[in-house]
Amino acid sequence: MDAIKKVVIPVAGWGTRSLPASKNIPKEMLPIYNKPVIQYVVEEAQHSGIENVVFVTNRDKSVIEDHFDYNLQLENVLERAGKLDKLAVVRGVAEMVNIMAVRQKKQLGLGHAVLCAESIIANDPFAIMVGDDLMFGGTPGIKQLIDVAVAENMSVVGVMEVAPDKVNKYGIIDASEISPGVFRVKNLVEKPACDQAPSRYAIVGRYVLKPEIFKYLKEVKPGHGGEIQLTDALQGLAKNDGMLAVKMSGIRFDAGDWSEYLAANIYFGLQDEDLHYELLDKLKNFVQFK
Ligand code: UTP
Repeated sequence: MDAIKKVVIPVAGWGTRSLPASKNIPKEMLPIYNKPVIQYVVEEAQHSGIENVVFVTNRDKSVIEDHFDYNLQLENVLERAGKLDKLAVVRGVAEMVNIMAVRQKKQLGLGHAVLCAESIIANDPFAIMVGDDLMFGGTPGIKQLIDVAVAENMSVVGVMEVAPDKVNKYGIIDASEISPGVFRVKNLVEKPACDQAPSRYAIVGRYVLKPEIFKYLKEVKPGHGGEIQLTDALQGLAKNDGMLAVKMSGIRFDAGDWSEYLAANIYFGLQDEDLHYELLDKLKNFVQFK
């Protein structure tokens, strides 16, 4: 498989778990420390050698594309004020990657969102990164999958081990480990009941797939929640074309979940030397008062 240069980032969901914050601001634009969630995802892509980002958006999400474009008026203001460090920051965001966008006109699920990008992806293998799933530490998350996909010429999904009571929130793999941390996927089950899960390895929001996935996506009937599930199409790909799963290393935050979103803010706040001690003191106070 050639190097992966394109990523599809679906950001067209309603974000109901993040209401009311996400009523008029896409949940992907909510800040974690000093950057919107989506910027961390795009940085991960950039650090993994990906040059082209395809956002799957809806009519209320164009602010996401704008974030990765120049804002000449703001740049002028910063230049005239001599705030050159800030100028470099805002210009840098516009120069990270090439941005493309395609509309998902009806919110019919993650699988449907990926299918909307078919004509842009065409016949190349490509990455998918879910727009509210954050990964940090060591090798960038999607790079971990790209390395295996390119070396083995196979589609690869990223997995992490979850607690038994959390398997019903994820797509779960049925797989055998062929080398440390790498699995051959036999089957996948979307949101199984705890006692019916084939493993505790949950698919997290990172994938590197061959373009054959589009063929299977077109065959998928609406499943769990009336949505076109990506997991259902992955089953076809796994059974007929073969698929690997890679146990991902690093910390993951689901920014659509409040406790994880808030934890991510604290995690990044604590990494800032100027904030570290003050923030820690405040947190200690909160805990004492409880
Ligand atoms: P989620 O289920 O986490 O997102 O979908 P959601 O539907 O926006 O959020 P909740 O559950 O209502 O709070 C995973 C990803 O797939 C995208 C979402 O934007 C999110 O990044 N998605 C989901 C789409 O692009 N289109 C869809 O129809 C559904």
